[in-house]
Amino acid sequence: MSCPALPDGFDFTDPDLLHHRVPLPEFAELRRAEPVRWIPQPAGLAGFQDEGYWAVTRYADVKYVSTHPELFSSYLNTAIIRFSEHIERDAIDAQRLILLNMDPPEHTRVRQIVQRGFTPRAIRALEERLRTRARAIVAGARAHPGPFDFVTEVACELPLQAIAELIGIPQEDRSRIFDWSNRMIAYDDPEYAITEEVGAQSATEILAYAMSMAADRKQCPAQDIVTRLVAAEGEGNLNSDEFGFFVLMLAVAGNETTRNAITHGMHAFLTHPDQWELYKRERPATAAEEIVRWATPVAAFQRTATQDTELGGKHVRKGDRVGLFYASANHDPEVFDEPGTFDVTRDPNPHLGFGGGGPHYCLGKSLAVLEIDLIFDAVADALPGLRLVGAPRRLRSAWINGVKELRVSAV
Ligand code: HEM
Repeated sequence: MSCPALPDGFDFTDPDLLHHRVPLPEFAELRRAEPVRWIPQPAGLAGFQDEGYWAVTRYADVKYVSTHPELFSSYLNTAIIRFSEHIERDAIDAQRLILLNMDPPEHTRVRQIVQRGFTPRAIRALEERLRTRARAIVAGARAHPGPFDFVTEVACELPLQAIAELIGIPQEDRSRIFDWSNRMIAYDDPEYAITEEVGAQSATEILAYAMSMAADRKQCPAQDIVTRLVAAEGEGNLNSDEFGFFVLMLAVAGNETTRNAITHGMHAFLTHPDQWELYKRERPATAAEEIVRWATPVAAFQRTATQDTELGGKHVRKGDRVGLFYASANHDPEVFDEPGTFDVTRDPNPHLGFGGGGPHYCLGKSLAVLEIDLIFDAVADALPGLRLVGAPRRLRSAWINGVKELRVSAV
């Protein structure tokens, strides 16, 4: 059965689409009529069996693919994009060194090591410092006499500070790391005028920085996460290259995602005043999860089929790309009552904003939830009367649901 509501040539990964809106009506139509659908793409990179991907839009199917890495590999890159636009073979080879793009057993080995840095204890240890940061960030924004951009003034800073605190990047190096990671994530949007070369160069610089950090700690162990991950060479530790790629991954995975969750969350609160009042009054512990469901900052990721298999009644062939549309799954009425309602008391809220629950499930989830809680706590205390000044300006991207500017005013 084909889906009549989807015009010919419609592609969920066309960056011009997310630039303007999240295609919720099209997702709803696919979930109803053709929940696993082949989306052809313009001819591009050689080596793939076919140009295009399966769009997976139902909650249950997204979860199924995520939890079956033996059928659906992460190895051939998880960022779902139009290959013809950006990616070269070399870039794909380098991406295999990133945790997100590994398969078991390699993934299992590296994940077990890096998890040591993300224990509940490790995250709790950051809480008071991050709370102080969050309050200082919001106080800085409050000092503005007129309208200001919530993204640059509030949402950008805490995610980067959190990663820097976690890894123990010295204060004097932070602005360089922040600049590199911001440059690396923005290349799909021409407004930033960031070329692939500049993005690649930033990646190289972060790698070199992190590798030298690892080498230092091997020489002089300290009481920090770097030491815990790299100190003694061997089975249970990362080598310097692996550590470098891990830091590179954090600089991307933990930066833009959380920034966009915070920005969308603020926008959702200011366009749903009843929810903002409720939040300010009761500070429900469920709010951060609903913000992530509502925003779904990572709109989609992809897998590649390792063998011929069935999915949603379709025959998926070995080598086919499969797009996991978290933004669609998070609006699936089979799972969420009134999915189009922003409800910060929603409970349970088994959303897939942090992934579909498989081995790649977001490593930084507790840190992200903590950051969102801390920022909104600080905004509710210091800027309770915040109001919107104009519509959000959205990011041009194939898979990030991003906002680059959100004008607000405290007065
Ligand atoms: C993986 C979303 C914040 C580190 C992921 C995945 C998603 C995601 C969708 C892929 C899951 C999968 O493929 O099954 C988010 C969102 C965030 C957020 C929406 C903020 C609201 C963070 C933060 C960090 C982080 C703060 C770390 C500082 C990672 C890492 C992975 C990952 C390392 C790869 C895990 C693996 O491959 O084993 N995240 N993330 N994320 N995230 Fe997050």
